[in-house]
Amino acid sequence: MHSSVVVVYTAALCVCFTYGDDYILDDKLGLGRTFDGIGGLSGGGATSRLLVNYAEPYRSQILDYLFKPNFGASLHILKVEIGGDAQTTDGTEPSHMHYENDENYFRGYEWWLMKEAKKRNPNITLIGLPWAFPGWIGHEKSWPYDFPDITAKYVVSWIVGAKQYHDLDIHYIGIWNEKKYDLNYIKVLRDTLDRVGFSHIAIIAADGYKPDDWQIASDMLAEPLLFDLIDVIGAHYPGTETVMDALKTGKALWASEDFSTYNDDVGGGCWARLLNQNYVNGRMTATISWNLLASYYERLPFGRDGLMTAQEPWSGNYVVESPIWTTAHTTQFTQPGWSYLQTVGHLKSGGSYVALTDRRGNLTVVIETMTHNDSVCIRPPLPPYDVTPCNVTFYLKGSFASISQLQVWRTKFDFKTKKHVFLQKLDSVKVSDGSFTLRLDVDEVYTLSTITTAQKGTHPDPPPSAPFPKLYEDDFNVRNPSFTEAPHFADQTGVFEYFKNLTDPGPHVYTLRQVVTQRPVTWATDANQAISVIGDYSWRNIVVTSDVFIEKPGTGGVFIAARADRGGSGVQGCRGVFFWVFADGTYRVTRDLMGKSVLAEGKSGTSSSIWYTLSLAVKERNATVTLDGTSLWDGGVDWVPKYGWAAIGTASFELAQFDNFSVEAE
Ligand SMILES: *[C@@H]1O[C@H](CO)[C@@H](O)[C@H](O)[C@H]1NC(C)=O
Ligand SMILES: *[C@@H]1O[C@H](CO)[C@@H](O)[C@H](O)[C@H]1NC(C)=O
Ligand SMILES: *[C@@H]1O[C@H](CO)[C@@H](O)[C@H](O)[C@H]1NC(C)=O
Ligand SMILES: *[C@@H]1O[C@H](CO)[C@@H](O)[C@H](O)[C@H]1NC(C)=O
Ligand SMILES: *[C@@H]1O[C@H](CO)[C@@H](O)[C@H](O)[C@H]1NC(C)=O
Ligand SMILES: *[C@@H]1O[C@H](CO)[C@@H](O)[C@H](O)[C@H]1NC(C)=O
Ligand SMILES: *[C@@H]1O[C@H](CO)[C@@H](O)[C@H](O)[C@H]1NC(C)=O
Repeated sequence: MHSSVVVVYTAALCVCFTYGDDYILDDKLGLGRTFDGIGGLSGGGATSRLLVNYAEPYRSQILDYLFKPNFGASLHILKVEIGGDAQTTDGTEPSHMHYENDENYFRGYEWWLMKEAKKRNPNITLIGLPWAFPGWIGHEKSWPYDFPDITAKYVVSWIVGAKQYHDLDIHYIGIWNEKKYDLNYIKVLRDTLDRVGFSHIAIIAADGYKPDDWQIASDMLAEPLLFDLIDVIGAHYPGTETVMDALKTGKALWASEDFSTYNDDVGGGCWARLLNQNYVNGRMTATISWNLLASYYERLPFGRDGLMTAQEPWSGNYVVESPIWTTAHTTQFTQPGWSYLQTVGHLKSGGSYVALTDRRGNLTVVIETMTHNDSVCIRPPLPPYDVTPCNVTFYLKGSFASISQLQVWRTKFDFKTKKHVFLQKLDSVKVSDGSFTLRLDVDEVYTLSTITTAQKGTHPDPPPSAPFPKLYEDDFNVRNPSFTEAPHFADQTGVFEYFKNLTDPGPHVYTLRQVVTQRPVTWATDANQAISVIGDYSWRNIVVTSDVFIEKPGTGGVFIAARADRGGSGVQGCRGVFFWVFADGTYRVTRDLMGKSVLAEGKSGTSSSIWYTLSLAVKERNATVTLDGTSLWDGGVDWVPKYGWAAIGTASFELAQFDNFSVEAE
């Protein structure tokens, strides 16, 4: 452990004295830090992909649970990925500038999501952060800092676009997610922001991950220019702890990405513990959940690591998970701009408490008694500790001495009976002689507050869960004009967008087109082939059919696939049954996306700029591939995955189109 880490020891043995434990809440000696809010992160990457395809009213209901004040999570902050055309964990998100001379502020769904959030909470804090950049930014070097003015202009154009086309004010901008930062780039970014009148937009840095989570703080102390440029120090998965150098800067400290934990009830417990202890142990004044909403195929990496789950647009089913309610314990009772009291800390019997005030007499106290095993997060490791039931007495002093009663809201996780109680309003407590006593059990969250507006919002139950339809067809002719991507396709390398051929194209006017033509400045290990997956991961025997149009002569090529078994950062290693045709007049059937494990190859007579219909039928251990209805090959497919998604894609970063896609599962 670093000597500089602030270690907060909890009592080795929890003690609850016979008459209970006493805690003072006082503002006489001054206040603590300013609270900046609790938020969710959409992106990093493609974590909200499926949300947009939900029918109403379900889509709006999901958004209500996330953003509507006094309803559900009632989030204060929405952080989004600035799409960079590259894989950023659960998919790619499109850039607003695929090419140097290209600008489009209507791609993807983050603009729409920000507007929906703002519609519900006009005060929501908006943050943008790049994970990846389109290839032209890096001049083929997969590095964004060699031409800092170009990168800064690119990022600032995204902020300008947000304002100009969507009337969205971005409040904070980041550098490069979990990658190295560059002092000169940050300086140029600041200058570029200032020049276009965005001097109020603050810079967060460096969104680093262990062991670099707080490194920038030390760098700031050593470099005055860096110190001046950075407004907020954002660290990822800090495990509720900070370092002395970070405190020494006096800057706001944020857990700018945290949680990343399966959203079952232990996940809800993890999140409750983080929301309190990020401040108690680490003086962090904002915590942002990766991710906002688990709205991507569950079998992609980190399935269900969102505050709630919405991964079935085809059925309309979604699940309001416990993290929504543990969020509400803080968010519905405070607002950014409130101050923490100095009197916050651990309970002697285990657990923690924080207190916040609006400095106009309102007081909110959040207490959590989550036990170790019921609140472990995915990372970092959580050292053991004990929590025991205890009667605790709080004494209200200073401006709070005259408070006569407090609203009480309680969550109780009961892992034995599974009869959890989330955000339940209890009778308010009377404060007599400036104090009140609370009987605390383990695995509880309590909010006591003068705020009276909180509510546990509900919508009618959504439709039941159902698998992806066995027969699915899309000719890409019927489109939702708000979106550029076809429903349910989850791009894992490259970007597949609706395309309209304006010249006289015959029957293929509206198609789906892969548009990334150059390897991006990647964040993860994108494949060298573009691929978009769709359907049900448990599909085994399926027929995939698509019309295809290779645009790149010579080496250009496209594929359709069955049993595609991997996406996310592992997409390079995706296996399945892949049927390729190439512009050079050949075809191939392979077991892998890289195209190295060949099952069959031969002549197809295919070329670029002609439409063909490909079909791939995989049944048990056999496959049949046809081109325009004529069988090219059938045979056994050994050593392929048992199950996986359907997929489409291209042989390289090249333009290609797809039309009349269909998949039929047994
Ligand atoms: C937004 O903030 C203003 C000023 O703090 C406040 O008066 C208003 O109630 C807030 N609106 C919502 C929807 O929270
Ligand atoms: C608390 O906040 C409310 C608004 O939410 C306000 O009306 C009230 O005056 C504040 N102060 C106290 C002491 O309740
Ligand atoms: C917590 O989990 C560990 C590992 O699974 C187990 O050994 C231990 O008994 C559990 N503790 C409690 C209090 O359940
Ligand atoms: C809390 O107080 C009640 C009586 O008010 C008592 O029955 C209970 O045992 C106490 N709990 C603890 C853990 O001391
Ligand atoms: C558009 O259609 C025309 C006419 O069929 C065709 O020649 C051209 O290649 C198509 N363009 C694209 C980009 O598909
Ligand atoms: C798509 O396929 C259907 C038959 O399945 C056919 O009627 C239609 O013409 C096709 N569309 C195009 C653009 O080829
Ligand atoms: C697979 O192919 C083999 C040999 O061609 C054939 O005997 C077998 O019946 C086929 N199995 C299925 C499920 O089609």
